[in-house]
Amino acid sequence: MKALRADLLDFTAPPAWGSTSLDGVRWRPDHWLLVGDDGRIVGAQPAAQPLPGDWERHDHRGRLLLPGFIDTHVHSPQLEVMASYGTELLDWLERFTFPAERAYADPAVAEAGAARFLDALLAHGTTAASVFPTVHKASAEALFAAAAQRGMRLIAGKVLMDRHAPEGLRDDVAQAERDCIDLIQRWHGRGRNSYSVTVRFAPTSTPAQLAMAGALCRADASLYMQTHVAENRAEVAWVAQLFPEARSYLDVYARAGLLHPRAVLAHGIWLDADDRAALRASGAQIAFCPSSNLFLGSGLFDWQAMTEAGAAVSVASDVGGGTSLSMQRTLADGYKVQAMAGRRLTAWQALHAATRGAAQALHLDHEIGSLEPGTTADLCLWDWSVGPVDAHRQAAARELHERVFAWMTLADERHLAATFVAGRQIHARAAAHGSSGP
Ligand code: GUN
Ligand code: ZN
Repeated sequence: MKALRADLLDFTAPPAWGSTSLDGVRWRPDHWLLVGDDGRIVGAQPAAQPLPGDWERHDHRGRLLLPGFIDTHVHSPQLEVMASYGTELLDWLERFTFPAERAYADPAVAEAGAARFLDALLAHGTTAASVFPTVHKASAEALFAAAAQRGMRLIAGKVLMDRHAPEGLRDDVAQAERDCIDLIQRWHGRGRNSYSVTVRFAPTSTPAQLAMAGALCRADASLYMQTHVAENRAEVAWVAQLFPEARSYLDVYARAGLLHPRAVLAHGIWLDADDRAALRASGAQIAFCPSSNLFLGSGLFDWQAMTEAGAAVSVASDVGGGTSLSMQRTLADGYKVQAMAGRRLTAWQALHAATRGAAQALHLDHEIGSLEPGTTADLCLWDWSVGPVDAHRQAAARELHERVFAWMTLADERHLAATFVAGRQIHARAAAHGSSGP
C-alpha cells in the first residue's frame, strides 16, 4: 500500500468549450493519493489528515499528480522518422516512413524497437496508447510482449496493407487474416493488451482486405479498429479515385463495416457534416493530431464542429508525423490550431481529452484516465516548472486555470519526475535537473 503526496488533478465530467470554470475539474491540492497492493487507486485524503502507519509514504509535495496520458494514435517504428524535412503526407510516406518500417521485417529490430518505443512513451508521461507497429506480424507480437512485460495498457494490431506499398511492406488478404486471428487469440484481452484491427489507410488496402477487416470487427465487437482518414487533400483526392462508389473517404470505411464504437480514426481534417453525423451515429472517435497536422502541412482540424456534431475527439501525437511524444507539446499545438480558427482550447478541455476523455472514447474509463477509486494507478508526477523562466511564469499565475494552462503550454518530458504503471514506479527522471515548485 502506497501513499503519494502531491497536488492531485483529474476530471469528473467533460469541461465545456471555452469555459475556464471548474465544472468537471477535480483539484485536490496537497493530498495523499492512496494506492492498494493490487495496483488500483483506493482513495485520497488531504495531507493535513493523519495517515495510518501502514502506508508506504512517497512525499512529492509541490508536485502535480495526473493520471497517465493516453496517446490515441502513434506509430512505434517512426521515432527515427520524426522531423524529416520537406514533404507532405504521400511523399513523406514514400521517402521516409516506408523505408524505416521495412526494417521491422527483422524480429530482432522489431523487438528492440518495441522496447525503445514503450520506454520512450513512459518517459514522456504516456501510460496508455493506441499504436501502429508495421505490416509484419512480429512487430505486433513484439509490441504486445513488451507492453505485457511493463504492465502497460496497450491497444495495437498488425498493420494491414496489401497494395500501394513497396515490396517487403505488403501482405495479402489470406495471410493477413491468419496473422490477425492468431494475434487476436494470443493477445486480445491478455493482461492489459487489446487488439485493434489496423488498416493503415484506405489507399493501401484493396476492397477485399477492407472487407476482411470489417468481418473481423463484426465477429468480435470487443476488437478495436484504427486507421487514418481525411488527413491531406491529395490523399482525399486519391481515395475518391480509388473508391468512386463511396460518398466520401469516411464512407469507404463505413461501407466496409469499420466504423463502430471502438474505431479510432486519426486526423479527420477534411470531413463534412454528413461524415461528422456518421461518426456520431457510429460512436467512433477522431484522434486529433495537431503536431503532425502542422508539421506535414495537412490542415487545421475543426474540433468544435466535431464536438457540436456529437462525435468524440481525443488527442494524439502521431509520431513520426508529429514531432514529439510529449502530450503537453501536442496539446500546446492543439491550442494554436484552434486559435487559428478564432477558438480557444482551455487547459481543462485539453487535459481531459488526453486523460478521461480518451479513456471514455475507448470504453476504458473503468480502468484508466482518472484518479477515481477502483481504477488502475497509472500515474505521472510532474514538476510545475523546470528552470528559471518557467518558474517565473508559474509564480506570476493568479488562478488555477492560468497556472495549469501555462504549465500545459510550457511543460514537456523534462517536467516528468516519475511514472507509475499499476502503482509501480516504472520510470524516474535522472537526477540532473528539475525543481518542484514555482
Ligand atoms: N497515413 C497513412 N499512413 C500514415 C502514417 O504513417 N502517418 C500519417 N501521419 N498518416 C498516414
Ligand atoms: Zn498516423
